[in-house]
Amino acid sequence: MINFTYCNPTEIKFGKGQIAAIAELIPENARIFLLYGGGSIKKNGVYNQVMDALSGRVVDEFNGVEANPHYETLQVASRLAMLKGSTFVLGAGGGSVIDAAKFLAAMIATGKDDPWDDLLKHPEDVRPLPNGAVLTLPATGSESNPVSVISSVRRQLKVPFSNQAARPKFAIMDPTTMQSLSRRQLENGVVDAFTHVLEQYLTRPVNTPVQYGFSETVLEVLIEWGPKLVETRSEEACENVMWAANQALNGLIGAGVPQDWSTHMIGHAITAIYGVDHARTLSMIMPSVFRYCLNTKAPMLARYARRVWKSDQLDDVKAAEQAIVRTEEFMAHMGCPVRISQQDALEVDVEALVSHLEKAGHTELGENQDIRPEDVRKILSMAA
Ligand code: NZQ
Ligand code: ZN
Repeated sequence: MINFTYCNPTEIKFGKGQIAAIAELIPENARIFLLYGGGSIKKNGVYNQVMDALSGRVVDEFNGVEANPHYETLQVASRLAMLKGSTFVLGAGGGSVIDAAKFLAAMIATGKDDPWDDLLKHPEDVRPLPNGAVLTLPATGSESNPVSVISSVRRQLKVPFSNQAARPKFAIMDPTTMQSLSRRQLENGVVDAFTHVLEQYLTRPVNTPVQYGFSETVLEVLIEWGPKLVETRSEEACENVMWAANQALNGLIGAGVPQDWSTHMIGHAITAIYGVDHARTLSMIMPSVFRYCLNTKAPMLARYARRVWKSDQLDDVKAAEQAIVRTEEFMAHMGCPVRISQQDALEVDVEALVSHLEKAGHTELGENQDIRPEDVRKILSMAA
């Protein structure tokens, strides 16, 4: 095992009606800054539940956080929060809003109008304001992890920010909030969570049987319940996918294991330049990353084939290829493209994507930091 620190202090309140608990979870004397997106919480009743729980409290609000939240929008929110003297940020929505709330909490703490360089170059130097999350879309795990992914329109960049103190103090996970999600958002959520597990699980093998077994269970739950969720939206399916997506990226399965986030970093470049949904950028790239890295990944891909997909293939390389094909079939079944050309005739400019990775400082990707720009070019051509 690689040495690790594991500390996930986010208090999770899971289940129907749990939004009411925010009243006790947010300090009595807090000045609350409520952040949300384009209005889904107003239509599905989440906004009313939040406001009911906070009645009698001081709440300022800001709406209009975009999917793939824009730094420039958060600058406007930050000015307002600083003006109001906010002391607690509450995000209510999907991963974009929760990421935005965490990043905003850090922006406010800098006291600066344009803290991009401070936060991206020295992310752990700031002590963000406390924040909390009301999750309405299971996918990212943002509700209990330290990461925000922020896009700057001006810079044409989409980059991750991580600060341990930005982890939400609490996460409300009420699966009934998922009823208003579109089929596409549900499919995206399942595929995003699935890739989160694979990027921590399919690397070079180390001695982490607990993490591997847990990863396999999360994958099996998503394979079984993802399609049921999309077809039935049953209570059980909502509960199981919401919890699985959280466990996929809350730090537990990644503790002590080498990780390979190359698919995500290439995906962020595709979203930054072409605006493609996050999950769909992953499904179109990941199979090609696996094929390109078969030499290093074959042992774990073979384990994945045998344990998760129940392959009886004894040869590691053949089992690995089976696992990649089964993964593609699952992603396609969840409505996501497994090649770039399957995404509404998307055509990408490989050099623009490589230049995004260079600007973002992502030039040594993979569990062995050996996926360089020249490798990304080859991966993109395999994924075309
Ligand atoms: O803006 P509103 O009106 O709320 O609508 C949203 C948005 O249009 C809608 N939605 C959310 N909950 C809903 C709902 N519509 C109806 N009913 C509900 N209950 O869904 C749309 C997409 O929402 P978004 O938050 O963008 O989706 P998601 O949760 O997939 O988040 C994607 C963002 O998270 C980042 C991605 O890069 C992307 O920016 N990620 C964050 C990670 C993290 N913090 O660890 C890791 C991930 O890999 C990912 O990169
Ligand atoms: Zn993701």
